[in-house]
Amino acid sequence: MQKIAIISDKPGWHGEQLRLALSKQGCQSTFVPLQQCSFNLDTNSAAVSLPGFGRALPDGVFVRGIPAGTLQEITFWLDILHALNELGVPVYNDARGIERSVDKAMTSFLLHKANISTPPCWVFRDRAEAKVQVKREQGNGHELVFKPLFGSQGEGLKRISKPDQLPDAVTANGIYYLQRFIETEGDYCFDWRVFVIGGCAIATMQRQSSGWITNVANGADCLSAVLSKPLTHLAEQAVKQLGLSYGGVDILRNTAGKYQIIEVNSIPAWKGLQSVCSFDISDLLVKDFLSFCHSAQSIEAAN
Ligand SMILES: Nc1ncnc2c1ncn2[C@@H]1O[C@H](COP(=O)(O)OP(=O)(O)O)[C@@H](O)[C@H]1O
Ligand SMILES: [Mg+2]
Repeated sequence: MQKIAIISDKPGWHGEQLRLALSKQGCQSTFVPLQQCSFNLDTNSAAVSLPGFGRALPDGVFVRGIPAGTLQEITFWLDILHALNELGVPVYNDARGIERSVDKAMTSFLLHKANISTPPCWVFRDRAEAKVQVKREQGNGHELVFKPLFGSQGEGLKRISKPDQLPDAVTANGIYYLQRFIETEGDYCFDWRVFVIGGCAIATMQRQSSGWITNVANGADCLSAVLSKPLTHLAEQAVKQLGLSYGGVDILRNTAGKYQIIEVNSIPAWKGLQSVCSFDISDLLVKDFLSFCHSAQSIEAAN
């Protein structure tokens, strides 16, 4: 029987769905909080120790949550995922993909580099430089969105139309990530969340709200939506470019009808999407995860 670690300190609905879907496939799963993992680098022990696994390593690792923490804590939690990978344990999504997507600056850079449609974006250390850019955009009739580099669920976002609206350096955590604000059509605000599994876009929904931040955690409504060709193409390209096995891609359409990726998530939630989707997303995700583990194990065995 395959023994799977689900990395999460707050399993909740998603953890339970994964546990059920894994057990349908004959796998046993254990929830593993990264806070309880350690390195033991003496000769007699398993180098990476996961609670519930004793001296053994899991057959696969599904990363469902990385807790907030200090720079040192987060660095170490990513070390654990990297180390498991080094030891031949399949990690889904792997640490490199998570690092790339959790950092909005790197995501924007990689999308831009690959010519994948995304709004213009600037990242500065210096507030004065950021102010100059806001002024320039203001002159061209554009607003900007300030975002924390590691933010999620719409937290800390600020719409900026004038230079003085930029947060101070302490509030900004020292870095100004600025993305051009995308004006959309219609009486209400919405974006699309496209879910990609194993390289294929499998479902989408519209997230609608009265305000411009349309995260489900912020109270947006989830509506079923057609997975059109442009949404499919963009989302699949983005997930591939960031090196993810699966992901959730946030897409807006501007008033000229152009689709643009505003963010890519490597640990996306799917409870909202499941509520408008006719098939079981957790089952599909777990099947892809197990086939990922199987290919990784075959490669490891061949080496
Ligand atoms: N450039 C933008 N133009 C217009 N709306 C945006 C823009 N960036 C973000 N938003 C709105 O804010 C929400 C959250 O932004 P996002 O970049 O996805 O950050 P988070 O990681 O917090 O989800 C988006 O789903 C969208 O509704
Ligand atoms: Mg988002």
